Amino acid sequence: MDEATPGESKRTASTQTSGAPPPFGSRFLTPSRSVWEQNAWDHVPPPDDQGERIALSLERQRASRVSDADRNRYNARPEKYWDAFYRLNQGNFFKDRKWLHLEFPELFQATREDAGEVTVWEPGCGVGNALFPLVQENENDQLKLVGCDYSKKAIEVVHANPLYHPPKGSLHAQVWDLASPLGLPESIPPGSVDIVLLIFVLSALHPDEWTRALANIWTALKPSGLVLIRDYGRHDLTQLRFRTNRLMEENLYVRGDGTRVYFFELGELGGLAQTQSPLPPAYPLPPHPLFSAQQLGIDRRLLVNRKRQLKMYRVWVQAKFCKL
Ligand SMILES: C[S@@+](CC[C@H](N)C(=O)[O-])C[C@H]1O[C@@H](n2cnc3c(N)ncnc32)[C@H](O)[C@@H]1O
Repeated sequence: MDEATPGESKRTASTQTSGAPPPFGSRFLTPSRSVWEQNAWDHVPPPDDQGERIALSLERQRASRVSDADRNRYNARPEKYWDAFYRLNQGNFFKDRKWLHLEFPELFQATREDAGEVTVWEPGCGVGNALFPLVQENENDQLKLVGCDYSKKAIEVVHANPLYHPPKGSLHAQVWDLASPLGLPESIPPGSVDIVLLIFVLSALHPDEWTRALANIWTALKPSGLVLIRDYGRHDLTQLRFRTNRLMEENLYVRGDGTRVYFFELGELGGLAQTQSPLPPAYPLPPHPLFSAQQLGIDRRLLVNRKRQLKMYRVWVQAKFCKL
């Protein structure tokens, strides 16, 4: 993959939601401090010339888009590019998930000894880098963890992990497509899940697949069940860095390895909560929006390469949806 997934850098809690004060422990770049003092700063607004930088990048990208033939190829069998990615990288990436604690404390509450029956499902789990930290912390005999991914190779790597047979609770991983029109995987009965985790997964889908994915998630959740989402934000450094022959559609790109990535505007992500399924559902859906957005936040971080004197403006979006 031609970029680092956010959160792989050492992080502190950082998501700023509608006017809430920044969390204690954040690193702020104040006028008295030099940007080169440390490797990362929290809540840094974009530089004054960011508008020009964005315009230049987008102009260059739009001038040479991915050809129709290539776009059809990348969209036709997206899982095979993820298979190739995992064959090449196995589990050697995206390892540091300490930030999960800070951003999604509900997850770790489920691992407490007295938390009772809780099911956590991660569609698009990759090689389990979010699931295994939960396994490691788990004290709850009644915690059920399920991971799904449409990459067979990713699921093979999950199965081969020594933590796949946890001493407490259970973990099951299987191949399944989140945008499947055929319904849920057999390990997830409708209405059985307390928490769905979507970590950099919606961005890997084609926008046309979001509705189906959210309908599947809604069906899987218990009443008032939660969806925890973290993903790439609009005009993140990695979006602006894409050069020629990478733009598939506005804000949807294909990386050098053939995997797709979309960059979300915050309002757009929030709008997904309002999804109503116009598609013939595998299960009946209600005639109202599927979720309410309980939290919607943007995380802007300045990462600094002190040696090369480089400033990297990263943008991530985060949301918590509640099933209606
Ligand atoms: C950027 S990776 C993130 C993996 C994992 N969530 C993590 O945090 O390490 C995106 C993952 O989503 C999976 N994925 C993309 N579209 C999918 C779909 N329609 N159904 C299931 N998995 C999908 C990919 O195979 C890949 O493993």
